[in-house]
Amino acid sequence: KTIYLKDYQAPDYLIDETHLKFELFENFTMVHAELHIRRNPDKQSDELPELVLDGQELELLTVVMDNVVINSNSYTVDDKSLTLQPNKNSFILKTTVRIHPETNTALEGLYKSNTMFCTQCEAEGFRKITYYLDRPDVMSKFTTTIEADQQSYPILLSNGNQIASGQEDDRHWATWQDPFKKPAYLFALVAGDLWCVEDSFTTMNQRKVDLRIYVEPENINKVNHAMTSLKNSMRWDEEVYGREYDLDIFMIVAVSDFNMGAMENKGLNIFNTSCVLARPETATDMAHQRVEGVVAHEYFHNWSGNRVTCRDWFQLSLKEGFTVFRDSEFTADMNSRTVKRIEDVAFLRTHQFAEDAGPMAHPIRPDAYMEISNFYTVTIYEKGAEIIRMLHTLLGKEGFRKGTDLYFERHDGQAVTCDDFVKALADANAIDLTQFKRWYSQAGTPQLEVLESYDSATKQYHLTFKQFCPPTPNQEEKQPFVIPVKMGLLNKQGQDLPLQLVGEGTLVGDVILITEAEQTFTFANVGEKPVPSLLRDFSAPVKLKFAYSKDDLLFLMQHDNDGFNRWDASQRLAIEAIQQQVVNYQAGNPMVLDSGLEKAYASLLADSSLDQAMVAEMLSLPAENYLVEISEVADPDAIHAARQFIRQQLANNLKGQFLTHYQANRAVSQQEAYRATADHIARRSLQNMALSYLMLTDDPQVLTLCLDQFKHSDNMTEQLAALTNLVNSPYESEKQQALVDFYEQFANDPLVIDQWFAVQANSQAGDSLARVVELMKHEAFTIKNPNKVRSLIGAFANNNLTGFHQKTGAGYQFLADQVLALNTMNPQIASRLLTPLTRWRKYDEERQQLMKAELERIMAADKLSSDVYEVVNKSLV
Ligand code: ARG
Ligand code: ZN
Repeated sequence: KTIYLKDYQAPDYLIDETHLKFELFENFTMVHAELHIRRNPDKQSDELPELVLDGQELELLTVVMDNVVINSNSYTVDDKSLTLQPNKNSFILKTTVRIHPETNTALEGLYKSNTMFCTQCEAEGFRKITYYLDRPDVMSKFTTTIEADQQSYPILLSNGNQIASGQEDDRHWATWQDPFKKPAYLFALVAGDLWCVEDSFTTMNQRKVDLRIYVEPENINKVNHAMTSLKNSMRWDEEVYGREYDLDIFMIVAVSDFNMGAMENKGLNIFNTSCVLARPETATDMAHQRVEGVVAHEYFHNWSGNRVTCRDWFQLSLKEGFTVFRDSEFTADMNSRTVKRIEDVAFLRTHQFAEDAGPMAHPIRPDAYMEISNFYTVTIYEKGAEIIRMLHTLLGKEGFRKGTDLYFERHDGQAVTCDDFVKALADANAIDLTQFKRWYSQAGTPQLEVLESYDSATKQYHLTFKQFCPPTPNQEEKQPFVIPVKMGLLNKQGQDLPLQLVGEGTLVGDVILITEAEQTFTFANVGEKPVPSLLRDFSAPVKLKFAYSKDDLLFLMQHDNDGFNRWDASQRLAIEAIQQQVVNYQAGNPMVLDSGLEKAYASLLADSSLDQAMVAEMLSLPAENYLVEISEVADPDAIHAARQFIRQQLANNLKGQFLTHYQANRAVSQQEAYRATADHIARRSLQNMALSYLMLTDDPQVLTLCLDQFKHSDNMTEQLAALTNLVNSPYESEKQQALVDFYEQFANDPLVIDQWFAVQANSQAGDSLARVVELMKHEAFTIKNPNKVRSLIGAFANNNLTGFHQKTGAGYQFLADQVLALNTMNPQIASRLLTPLTRWRKYDEERQQLMKAELERIMAADKLSSDVYEVVNKSLV
């Protein structure tokens, strides 16, 4: 069943207060709910409408309305709802249900992870806990009592402040009260034998907030990084947005079995262990940065999501796009801004552009869905954040802040829409954002083609922009977008010329505004033909087409004043070089290394004035997945071979330089204690980049270096990089030994074992599919744990291009089998796992048929979850 935005209706009833009591037992849980319900005053009608409460997989035991027991003849229950006919405008409804968290494998609602009870309610999990108006525009004050066995569950947590507790025999209880009204999706409960690290934060108004991070005992030494990140986030939100925390306590709980990254439940964030635990010996630099980013993301939701929430789930990007923008700016402020931008754009181009070009393409504010869980997408999150970033660019820092201040002030305590957000920004700045809002309603990635012409007689330089957005499902035609293009014109010395616009068009600072399908801008007083640097800092989520010559790209790589565009020039150069070899490979011609690319790399390696992080970013060739995305028809074997060939040639030809960098940086790593700071991370990334090239040279001396790094590093960043290189090397016995040693060293640390699975799933050597199948039987693997599924099955299907796309179709068949296995067990994970199969249109006819056949096989299975059904169905249209 499809749900449409245009059908939105305000709720007939509101719930002012919600009083819950949970009795947790090993074989069942009782949930007693007392709901203070009244008619919605905004909805007038003479008759009292029916009350339809959402509820799924609940065993209804009693219904009491205003202290009168309601006979089962007077209500109806089906597998999705409980319907009653009230006879008063306001009343108290009490229900008791029995549920089974102990057998809940979907990890939605109340469930068990290891020995603890925990919850995940967003988007529609609360209805699996009790009968309720499970929609975000119903906001209520919650009081929650949890009762459980004292021995097994000494810690009992819910949202807000603990207001009472007690004990009776071997059971104890605690009552929590949340003073802020909230939608049910922000409800949380945790019960378990947990340890915590405590700290505190003093807010800008000198209120002391108690901070606690709860983990299972064995993880207690892995929370410092998250705690520091939390305090930095709290300070940053005060400084940058003027947002202060509002409760006396803020808690994070780490759980091993979690469908997503983390969840912003009011005052009680619940995290996937992978997004909170980190220490140098077990977590890579990337993992440390992910922890910092996710801690910030969930914390920032306290304002962008909780204090001001979404009216309905079509508005999901209201909180997610905005909050991703906030967390990425936070990370940029804490680390290297340019590197963060490069990482975000590379991710967007690889994953979101592919989604936007596929069968699941949707605008950041979708107008229809079947299963909302399927819409927690890179489009809603990452493209959503890009749309907010464009608003920030258009309004400027101060104007944007004025807008968000008005938004928070106007809508505090409300459930609102994306329109409300844009209106607050527009009102605060007295500007018209009507056309800009097309970004909210139109899907697809616009292409922006740019043509230049220079007139030396008039000293005028013209840029003509043509925008075009390809059709997406149910959207044939698109209206022109507002595209802010941040730019510069470089003279021969690589300096930015002053921008002087004459004639039509808008230029604000260094940003020109494209608003039409085709538009020409004329710049005056341009003394020589410049090299344009366009879309600096990736100022809009579009595909920019400009016929740069190789020399232009080399020039921009060295001279552009915008770090992002220096990197982008290096990527364009590499893409061209790889694509030429793809053609050679397909034609059976010998492949050759472009000398321009080699020269560019040599000069990067030779320039000691450059930021090491930038050098590492510029030396990494575009990922295979991105090369797939930009192909008309993707040839996995050719892409892999061409990219690998170029890596190999660069390694051979620049070996000396790589070795110098490797040894210099490795020496520093051995001297300095690990720190997850931008400069240390930069150094290690250049070191590991150099190592990965060196390992292609088949030099036994390099093997020695790699083995040394594997055995004698004090941090996972170096150790895992070494392991990855060994696994992809031809040194069979060293590789097997390293895998055995690594497993033994970390057998007790599930998050490290996830890395061990992923490295093997991504292996380019040998029969990786057979290895993945074998690893699924490994003692450390379980399909019930989403992190395990993602690190083995997900990593193989998403990142092992040649393994997954092998011509036999065995990779596709394997993935479809796993989707079917997970379909009933955990529909959200099953549906996510499907993504690579949905991209079948990208490949050659033969592969298309094989991939489609697997989608059809899934479609034909019985009892498909709505999650899987929606994705398969849309993929086959
Ligand atoms: N709101 C969470 C976050 O972005 C994600 C929750 C996702 N839940 C889901 N069922 N898909 O931080
Ligand atoms: Zn979020």
